[in-house]
Amino acid sequence: MSTNAGSAPSVAIAAEIMRSEMICREHTLIELRVAVLARPEPGQFLQVRCADNTSRPPRVVDWDTHELPTLTNGCLDDPGPLLRRPISIADHWRADDGDHLSIISRSVGPGTRWLEQTRVGDMLDVTGPLGSGFRVPDMPGAAVLIGGGVGIPPLLFLARHLSDAGWRDVTLILGATTRELLPVEIIGDVASDGVALPCVCLPGHADFGTILATDDGTLGFAGRVTDALEHLLERRGARAARPVVFACGPEAMLRRVAELTRAEQLDCELCIERVMGCGMGTCLSCVVRMRDESASPGWRWGLACTDGPVFDRDELIDM
Ligand SMILES: Cc1cc2nc3c(=O)[nH]c(=O)nc-3n(C[C@H](O)[C@H](O)[C@H](O)COP(=O)(O)OP(=O)(O)OC[C@H]3O[C@@H](n4cnc5c(N)ncnc54)[C@H](O)[C@@H]3O)c2cc1C
Ligand code: FES
Repeated sequence: MSTNAGSAPSVAIAAEIMRSEMICREHTLIELRVAVLARPEPGQFLQVRCADNTSRPPRVVDWDTHELPTLTNGCLDDPGPLLRRPISIADHWRADDGDHLSIISRSVGPGTRWLEQTRVGDMLDVTGPLGSGFRVPDMPGAAVLIGGGVGIPPLLFLARHLSDAGWRDVTLILGATTRELLPVEIIGDVASDGVALPCVCLPGHADFGTILATDDGTLGFAGRVTDALEHLLERRGARAARPVVFACGPEAMLRRVAELTRAEQLDCELCIERVMGCGMGTCLSCVVRMRDESASPGWRWGLACTDGPVFDRDELIDM
């Protein structure tokens, strides 16, 4: 296995927005340029400050009046979310003018709505790369990349990585509840019968076949991505190379991926997107139960932000 880059130095840096584009309903693709960044691994993420960097001037309080200062009249108005928001790296490449990264953000609350209204030329304050990425076998083989909703971006980056490393037998299964919420650029015919076609524009000119799935059947395979995975594994048959499965998405989806891959005895890595306060191991908001035979209940608490967000399926007690 290639090591992941969890040990690479992470930095807080200013990133210039080079491109900002709505790619489907509620999803914005933002391309960033930074002077230099530790080379990120697919599965790692950035912590993005979703507020203007210009802080308000401090309010002067006159203590001599012996009155307690009132915390009203707008002085507690939130200039933006205090905590940075974790967003996966959807692509990374080096160019003469620095490191370029892309992220895809779905607007669900104040932080991501703030990101949506940023424009080309604005500067973002980001920390990263954080966490541990997907552990990719050194020898190219077969792989299935399965992503649901905002779990799709890290798999796009992984597709570039596998393509660059010479992997050829790779299939992506990408899905959302409905067509309008699928954050991918469609460039070819999409099959509705679960056949993988090169229908999605993938980073780095990766030309892997993709199965698109929608829960409501508005595009591609009608059903969940895990139904499409089950269908694909049946279709591949026993004689095909046994794929390693990389997945990211809601936890119910990941549990089903774990169940299917365990039944087929396939290696599987899961990227979990827990609610994260700090993203760097201090606030304990992202605890997960990790298998540990040396601990008395057979498990110990781990942190999704530093032990993960990518885990081997069997490391996680609840999968
Ligand atoms: C490692 C990691 C990678 C992520 N990558 C992406 C990405 O590439 N693109 C993207 O759009 N989002 C991603 N997310 C989710 C993203 O961080 C949250 O949607 C974001 O923090 C919401 O912030 P907000 O201020 O807009 O909304 P908030 O008001 O903070 O939240 C809005 C709603 O979303 C829920 N929520 C917040 N965080 C999460 C989460 N992690 N998982 C599920 N629900 C959550 C809240 O409970 C609330 O209901 C990732 C999360 C993690 C942990
Ligand atoms: S997000 Fe703070 S410890 Fe993981």
